[in-house]
Amino acid sequence: MKKIIAIDGPASVGKSTLAKKLAKKYSSPILFSGKLYRAVALELIKRKSNPNNIQNILKCVDCIDLNKLDSKELYSSEVDKLSSSISSKKKLRNKLITLQRNFPKEYGNSSKFAIIEGRDIGTVIFPDADYKIFLWADAKIRAKRRYKQIKKIRKKASFKGILNEINARDRKDLTRKIAPLMPATNSVLLDTSYIDIEQAFNALKKIILKI
Ligand code: DC
Repeated sequence: MKKIIAIDGPASVGKSTLAKKLAKKYSSPILFSGKLYRAVALELIKRKSNPNNIQNILKCVDCIDLNKLDSKELYSSEVDKLSSSISSKKKLRNKLITLQRNFPKEYGNSSKFAIIEGRDIGTVIFPDADYKIFLWADAKIRAKRRYKQIKKIRKKASFKGILNEINARDRKDLTRKIAPLMPATNSVLLDTSYIDIEQAFNALKKIILKI
């Protein structure tokens, strides 16, 4: 049986980067659960379906192919916003549970770990995960990191705009009634505000060796 590493935390905290580094180090399969919500949002946009109709939303779940979640379109700002808003729908969250729980069984046959990152992995999806990591960093620091990344790609970026977006997504993630973002029982909290990605990675490796 694979050991489950659940990594949760707010937007732009470095979850994906750290999860990818762990996946490489331990040759493990990795599921970015946010991509599931993004794939549903993208499909709704492509179909021009009414995103307030839950049946339309649920139909889009059937189109998700876990092997085809690499499209850049998943990261447009339209998808950012729509995925964030549909992620508060209980029926959608429930329908996505099975997909996520089956992931470790279906991917990475001989690997020791399966890594799943998101917002509710340690609390709802895998409450019995072997390792539950909750990453945190001050919103301003996350916005600064995101600003630097975007500047490299697009040159033009507004720090204030990015900070506002991060604050808005935090508010939604932290206050929604269904599966809000919060540290799971028995999770290890890692505040990355004042450490860089390598230091955070080293800390995670130590946590994984210790537990
Ligand atoms: O991690 P991300 O930015 O790719 O996630 C996209 C959206 O999906 C985000 O607004 C929060 C939501 N999400 C969620 O509600 N639960 C998860 N486990 C993962 C993401």
